[in-house]
Amino acid sequence: MSKIITEVFSKYNPLKYVQATQVQRCFHSTSSVLLSGNIKNYGKISAEAYDVWFLQKKYEDTDFFQSYITSNGQPALEVGCGTGRLLLYYKKLGLNVEGLDYSRHMLDICRKNAKEKEINVTLYQQSMQDLNMPKQFRTIFVPWGSFMLVNNKLEANQALKKFHDHLLPKGTLLIPVFNPTKHDIHTPPPNNNEWRLRREGTRERDGALIKCWEKVVFLEKEQLEKAEYRYEVILNNQLIETEIEHLCLRWYSQNEFVEMLGNAGFSNIKVFSGYTSKAANEEDNALTFVARKL
Ligand SMILES: C[S@@+](CC[C@H](N)C(=O)[O-])C[C@H]1O[C@@H](n2cnc3c(N)ncnc32)[C@H](O)[C@@H]1O
Repeated sequence: MSKIITEVFSKYNPLKYVQATQVQRCFHSTSSVLLSGNIKNYGKISAEAYDVWFLQKKYEDTDFFQSYITSNGQPALEVGCGTGRLLLYYKKLGLNVEGLDYSRHMLDICRKNAKEKEINVTLYQQSMQDLNMPKQFRTIFVPWGSFMLVNNKLEANQALKKFHDHLLPKGTLLIPVFNPTKHDIHTPPPNNNEWRLRREGTRERDGALIKCWEKVVFLEKEQLEKAEYRYEVILNNQLIETEIEHLCLRWYSQNEFVEMLGNAGFSNIKVFSGYTSKAANEEDNALTFVARKL
């Protein structure tokens, strides 16, 4: 999950909203949050907003995954491919990569983007913890902290086993994880009635402004980051649509995740600092786990 946060604060005024789409009502219930298989986030506006903010840009993870895919790592599967930021870029380069995501809205936009760019793309709508594919891959990669969205640890273990089953012998699994810093965890959130502006951007098709407001809470003992997002679509100074989204992300210590990978059958497990070839140290918050199937 990327962490671009605009330091702007605003008071949430419910009277301003003309239409609210409740994507998921689990935020206040720990038990339902933990059932991540039931969480359906990345709804219609969230998916559009994602595309507005991220599609056109190249981030540091692009070359990192590409180098694994090109060194004997094809066919590859991008898990949580979203609107195609990486997938379509790699397809354009002629790499053999397929995409999987559980959000119909993200996949719809990915398909539209592929069509516009005249790229043939193979997409699957599935949850990673229930992965059931007709083939195996040489590389499976889960970019941008998407794995953290499987916030129930039993389901996370299940997903790792599924990845192992779907890799060819000597195949590689790549999973970046972004842990909050002590500062993130211990900085008290703005009071409950305040939303913080996370991002904003202009939708190309009609020039509408999309804003995303957030409230984030860190549960240190549970290793969970619970975020509530409110999307606003503003056209000609009128609020025309809103959507509420709840994400709950689990973070991991290095040893804990290495153990989970080992239990899922992986070996030769390495932990890198971010998207580098440098081994992670104790202080690193951006970790990339790279593991092999024997
Ligand atoms: C942060 S976006 C990443 C999109 C893309 N990989 C990228 O790097 O731009 C996370 C994506 O993971 C998908 N996702 C979240 N949980 C999932 C799950 N359990 N199974 C499959 N996809 C999931 C979401 O629908 C969303 O498209």
